[in-house]
Amino acid sequence: MNSEEMARTLKPEEVLAVKEDLFELYKKELFAGQLYLGQTRKLEGVITTILNDLIDQEQRHASILRTMLSRAGVETKDNYEKIPQSKINEPLVKAVSYDISLEDEAMHAYAETIKKAKSEKVKLILAEIRNDEIRHLAMLKEYERENE
Ligand SMILES: [Fe+2]
Ligand SMILES: [Fe+2]
Repeated sequence: MNSEEMARTLKPEEVLAVKEDLFELYKKELFAGQLYLGQTRKLEGVITTILNDLIDQEQRHASILRTMLSRAGVETKDNYEKIPQSKINEPLVKAVSYDISLEDEAMHAYAETIKKAKSEKVKLILAEIRNDEIRHLAMLKEYERENE
């Protein structure tokens, strides 16, 4: 069973214990996805390939979180926070370093929520997403090392 399928089998009480955390994670995923999308339009080269890959994955994460929240009856929108234009217009080096900070923050936020969750299924789903965030962080750091 993949994470999407597992999310659909959650009982409301399994989600309720970490509802606020999941909602915050969901907003972070939307923020990162929107930011990366804006950045791909401004930047050029290999970084756009990396960011496009990240966009797909953050969207998948958002969709899994949305499913989890809906199991507890929490309605979600697809836009909460507008990305400041100044963030989108950052030059390459600053943009990448900001993205690294977001991925690092996401990785830690998932770890915290995994600790709080009581449900093994919730822990499994979040651990899979956290592993993606660890890879995202590594990809961006590798890019940073090779290009600075
Ligand atoms: Fe993500
Ligand atoms: Fe990520």
